[in-house]
Amino acid sequence: MNFTKSWVLTKDGSSTLKINSLKETYHSLHGAVTESEFVYVTNGLHFWHNAHPNSNAAILEMGYGTGLLSYVNFLDHLKTQIKIDYTSIEAYPLSLKELGRLNYNRFFEEKKSFSFTEFSELTWEVAHQLSPIFTLQKQKSFFEEYKSKNLFDIIYYDAFGAHAQPDLWEIEWMEKCFDLLNYGGVWVSFCAKGSVRRALQEVGFKVERLPGPPGKREMLRAVKP
Ligand SMILES: C[S@@+](CC[C@H](N)C(=O)[O-])C[C@H]1O[C@@H](n2cnc3c(N)ncnc32)[C@H](O)[C@@H]1O
Repeated sequence: MNFTKSWVLTKDGSSTLKINSLKETYHSLHGAVTESEFVYVTNGLHFWHNAHPNSNAAILEMGYGTGLLSYVNFLDHLKTQIKIDYTSIEAYPLSLKELGRLNYNRFFEEKKSFSFTEFSELTWEVAHQLSPIFTLQKQKSFFEEYKSKNLFDIIYYDAFGAHAQPDLWEIEWMEKCFDLLNYGGVWVSFCAKGSVRRALQEVGFKVERLPGPPGKREMLRAVKP
């Protein structure tokens, strides 16, 4: 995916990147930070945490991309004190130059303890202890080839949309997600496609359609019963 990307300002004032040839953005144009917080943190992490208030959350993010979602989770844990082991995989890491065009240092200006730039510069394939209760490991890997010794509690399935990457929304990969989760584990995504919902149900998930973030009627959450 060595595509040319351009910089776009989204409606909540946070920026994202756009792959012009795919007509695909890394986040919703209605608000990159708003979408990350609403879809994944609120409807994924906080939902899971309510049911498991004393446990560490092992999170797998499919698609590190700009790192915004990982960073938003890091900032959230500073407030909520939820203990998180965060693994994020990415097949096509962005360069520091590309990441440098994003405005997240300014957007999260008050959070000077650990800036977005410092977050972006963390090395890959190493588990970083970013606080006593938060570890982050970024891994260069295709989801299709990804293997893990440990299971996860939450999967943030943040691939590009099905129109851009139809293969990644096939039942085979929903089944892989199911196998990567603990019982009670949560899969969550911005996607609301009927075929994805049916694939999730077919592999054994209990699926809910939830109201989506601004600009999107619905999103999906699935629980491994
Ligand atoms: C919607 S973007 C993710 C946005 C990201 N969560 C963020 O906060 O910036 C989708 C990401 O999935 C990555 N990707 C595409 N195909 C992949 C694959 N087969 N395995 C792993 N990552 C993939 C893309 O390179 C892109 O970075």
